[in-house]
Amino acid sequence: MFVRLLSAQDLTQSVSQHTNTVIVGDSWEVVKHLSSESIQSIITSPPYFGHRNYSGHHYELKNMEFGQEQQLSEYVEKLVELFTELRRTLKPNGTLWLNLGDTYRNNQLLGIPWRVALSLQDSGWILRSEIIWNKPNAMPSSVKNRPTTSHETIFLFSKTTDYYYNADAIREPHVTFSDKSKMRGGRNHFGKRDGTPERGKNSGNPNLHNGRWDQAFHPLGRNKRTVWSISLGKFREAHFAVFPQELVETCLLAGSAENDLILDPFLGSGTTALVAQQHNRQFIGIELVPEYATMAINRLRNLDAKPKLF
Ligand SMILES: C[S@@+](CC[C@H](N)C(=O)[O-])C[C@H]1O[C@@H](n2cnc3c(N)ncnc32)[C@H](O)[C@@H]1O
Repeated sequence: MFVRLLSAQDLTQSVSQHTNTVIVGDSWEVVKHLSSESIQSIITSPPYFGHRNYSGHHYELKNMEFGQEQQLSEYVEKLVELFTELRRTLKPNGTLWLNLGDTYRNNQLLGIPWRVALSLQDSGWILRSEIIWNKPNAMPSSVKNRPTTSHETIFLFSKTTDYYYNADAIREPHVTFSDKSKMRGGRNHFGKRDGTPERGKNSGNPNLHNGRWDQAFHPLGRNKRTVWSISLGKFREAHFAVFPQELVETCLLAGSAENDLILDPFLGSGTTALVAQQHNRQFIGIELVPEYATMAINRLRNLDAKPKLF
C-alpha cells in the first residue's frame, strides 16, 4: 500500500481524496478539509487533560495541542467542537471509538471521560457503549489510600441508530458453557433447521430464549463484553501513549468492512493507520507533531506484510 506524508498546507483539495495519508497539522484545521460523510469509523485517543506535553520544543504548536488547556471546561469544549466537525465527516452508518483516561487534581478524580461523553451526547452524538479497557500490565503506583488505576474508558458513539456493527467479527470465547455443558436440545440442535430453542423441542421454555441460545452455542463465541483486558503494547518507548494493536483491531473489525475509510485525528505513532493497513482498510491520520507523524510513516512503510491474526 502506498502511504504519504502531507503537511496541512498541501491540502489544496478535499483530503478525502488523499487516503492512506498521514497529515501533519492541527486536526481542527485539517478536519475542515474532509468531505462530509466520507469516513466509516473514527478510532482515536486525544491527549488526556493536563497529562503530557507532546509538542515539546515546538513552542509554536503548544496552543494548538489538546490537553494543555488551563481549565477542564475549556478542554471539554474544544473536544466537543472538534467532534462536532468530525461528525459531519462520518458516514450516516459510521461510528466513533473514543478512548479517554481520567486525571486527579487537588486529590480529586475529575471524571473526565464521562464529562466528555455527556457533552458529546448533548451535542448530538448517540452514546452506544461504555467499554472498560482493563490493563493487566498497568504501571504500579505509590498510592496507598485508593486502588491503583488500571483502566481507561472507550466510548462507542454513532451518528444514527442504524450504524454498522459487525458483532461476529469480535465475538469472544464462551465461558459459561463448554463442549461438555449439558442443555436439553442444546448443542445437538445447533445449525439444524428449526434448531433454535423457540422452535425446537424446548419451545416454550423461557430459560432458552434466543438470546441465551446465542450466548451458549453461537459457533463464533459469545457477544463481546464491555470489559476488554488488553496489555499495553511494546512500542511504548517511542511515544508516550501508544494504542495496543489489539485494542484498535477490536474497534476496527466491529466498526468497518474491507476498503472502508478509517480516521484517527490524533494519530501519534500511527497505530490506527497500521492496523487499518493490516486489515485492508483505507486510512487518514492527522498528527500535530512532525516527529510523531514521521514515526507513523516509518512504521507504515516498514510493515511486515503478514497481518496479526485476531
Ligand atoms: C494519546 S496520543 C495518541 C497515541 C496514538 N493512539 C498511538 O497509538 O500512538 C495523542 C496525540 O495527539 C497529538 N495531538 C495533540 N493535539 C493535536 C492536534 N491539535 N492535532 C493533531 N494531533 C494532536 C499529540 O501530539 C499526540 O501524539
